[in-house]
Amino acid sequence: MTNLIAQAVATLRAGGLLALPTETVYGLAADAENEIAVRRIFAAKGRPVDHPLIVHLADGQQIDAWASEIPTAARLVAQAFWPGPLTMILPRSNKAAEAVTGGLATIGLRVPAHSVAQAVLREFGGGVAAPSANRFGRVSPTTADHVREELGTAVEMILDGGPCEVGVESTILDLSTDEPCILRPGAITAGQIEQVIGRALVAPEKNTTRCAGRLESHYAPRAAVELVTPSEVIPRAQALINQQKRVAVLCDATTEEIEQLLRACQARVLTIQFPQDPAACAQQLYSALRTADAFQVEVALVVPPPQVGLGIAVADRLQKAAGKG
Ligand code: TXA
Ligand code: MG
Repeated sequence: MTNLIAQAVATLRAGGLLALPTETVYGLAADAENEIAVRRIFAAKGRPVDHPLIVHLADGQQIDAWASEIPTAARLVAQAFWPGPLTMILPRSNKAAEAVTGGLATIGLRVPAHSVAQAVLREFGGGVAAPSANRFGRVSPTTADHVREELGTAVEMILDGGPCEVGVESTILDLSTDEPCILRPGAITAGQIEQVIGRALVAPEKNTTRCAGRLESHYAPRAAVELVTPSEVIPRAQALINQQKRVAVLCDATTEEIEQLLRACQARVLTIQFPQDPAACAQQLYSALRTADAFQVEVALVVPPPQVGLGIAVADRLQKAAGKG
């Protein structure tokens, strides 16, 4: 791996694009101070240039160079949750290339925990701009193969760090105003953050910060996603099959329940196991949606996990995939 890390760092230094494993999802990385390299990220993803990128750092001390104001809450959050699946939005310094922040006065900063990401960041020394390594609007990649399928030759190097442990993108916490707020739910929950900063977070609806990820249908597979309860699965699947649709069911079912479903639908549905344990579900979410797409499913019926812990992030992504986010 040492050689690969050296090669990855050389790629970044040369202004190249690197697919980098993190504990959340794979990132499409470039030197955050290199304007041309950062612009290549937007081109490779097909991402509008006003969607800001997160800058990844090796450790929390480095935020002083990238943020212009650092409230006490930010220090506390950094200490409690970094390295880890959390991004902080803070007022920015002038260190990042203009393209990184898409014209905003703030910047997203994160210290990832994945050992491969850590090794690259430590060796590189600077900040690495990295959005999720998918085409714009599609689901994030959680394996190196997903990146290969989606971006292939658009990147100079893909570092394979195995399947991502968390499986959904980091929690985004906006600390750039007096009203701290979660812009995107993730593995670190509102409750955990409130405990550390000693005050309540503002409801996201009340926050006016522009966060592209919240504004449009995002995280979408090709299949239409419909959220259903367990008792709705069979009648809804039957109705869709009667309309000649190709249907997948993503649910946590016993073998017997799946057999019952297949019988009721004359084996004309694709069943994909979708655990009800929120953390396990988050880990498998994007792979499950990609499987549905690989089988050219038109409608994916999904039974979401309970909305606790990572279940909140899963529900958020599913609602976005269903176009209601
Ligand atoms: O887990 C993650 O956060 C992954 C890994 C690679 O670190 N990255 C990721 O990046 O999900 P991306 O670009 O796919 O999503 C970042 C989100 C976008 O919706 C973007 O609009 C928002 O963060 N964002 C970035 N900087 C911001 C800022 N200054 N203010 C508000 N939102 C910001
Ligand atoms: Mg993304």
